[in-house]
Amino acid sequence: MTGKGGVGRSAVTAALAHIAQDRGTRVLVTEIGDDPEDYSPLARYFGKDRLATTPRELAPGILGAVLLARTGQELFLRGVLRSSTLSHAALRSDVLRRLLNAGPSFREMGIFFQVLHYLRTTREDGSPEHELILVDMPATGHTLSLTALPEVLLRLIPGGPIATALKEGQSYLNDPDKAAAWVVTLPETLPVSECLELLDGLDRTSMPIGGIFLNRVPVDPYTTRERELLRPLLDGTAVLGAESYWAPELAQRETARLLAGTRVPVYPLQQIPHANLVAHLAEVMGGARPIRRRTSMRP
Ligand SMILES: Nc1ncnc2c1ncn2[C@@H]1O[C@H](COP(=O)(O)OP(=O)(O)OP(=O)(O)O)[C@@H](O)[C@H]1O
Ligand SMILES: [Mg+2]
Repeated sequence: MTGKGGVGRSAVTAALAHIAQDRGTRVLVTEIGDDPEDYSPLARYFGKDRLATTPRELAPGILGAVLLARTGQELFLRGVLRSSTLSHAALRSDVLRRLLNAGPSFREMGIFFQVLHYLRTTREDGSPEHELILVDMPATGHTLSLTALPEVLLRLIPGGPIATALKEGQSYLNDPDKAAAWVVTLPETLPVSECLELLDGLDRTSMPIGGIFLNRVPVDPYTTRERELLRPLLDGTAVLGAESYWAPELAQRETARLLAGTRVPVYPLQQIPHANLVAHLAEVMGGARPIRRRTSMRP
């Protein structure tokens, strides 16, 4: 789940987790973090302050975990060194720590490996422990550095254990049956422009795109006749409440621009006035249909 800051990525991620749980899917919600002690906006939607570093129940049937570079780096080293004592010791080494903190790709790699670890985890019967993993991504740029990671690094490190893991990750990430990026946006000028740029960027990194959640579409409180009557009164005058008149028009214009700019399916989600946002959003999203059917994976 990606998109511009503040568009509702976390709310939509939480609502999707509820839908998945409702349909009997084992779901894990994750968010990229810097420090396990940090307050988590995603966890707030489940009434918790933070996500655990290993999958823990956030709500009945919904697991949550924070993605940390360090957790992933340790999981990776443990796999390579085949010993948790050694990997612990290695990560306590100041030199290694400084090296891992210095290279920005090492951070992304850690996060990447942690997700890969969850994808690989199976039950005794061989079925996946987590049938659906939702990643609440931070802002746009970071998403692209993660989706581009395997391709970029494989050019630098074509062999060895890192390359093997990157290729495995790539087999999930670039397969539309296994992974998809969903972009959350708003029917407003800047979010729509940023969304279109992000779709281009995702396509360049060979990331399959699931669709767009066009969030917070304002409900038009006026009928067509009322609009006609109000227009001469509001045009060019600053009137308290005029926002409710202009917002649906702006939203319509921006929705049209979004539809003209991409072939990806767009799911409109209403602006919800209720206090219990996630439950209502899940209800709306459960019945959401795209404005247009999918015709191609290309944006
Ligand atoms: N459909 C909706 N109707 C009404 N309010 C909404 C809707 N979706 C999200 N919000 C509100 O918008 C605000 C931003 O939502 P949220 O925190 O989920 O966005 P975000 O994209 O995750 O933000 P950040 O960039 O801070 O991570 C919150 O106050 C949330 O309650
Ligand atoms: Mg968020």
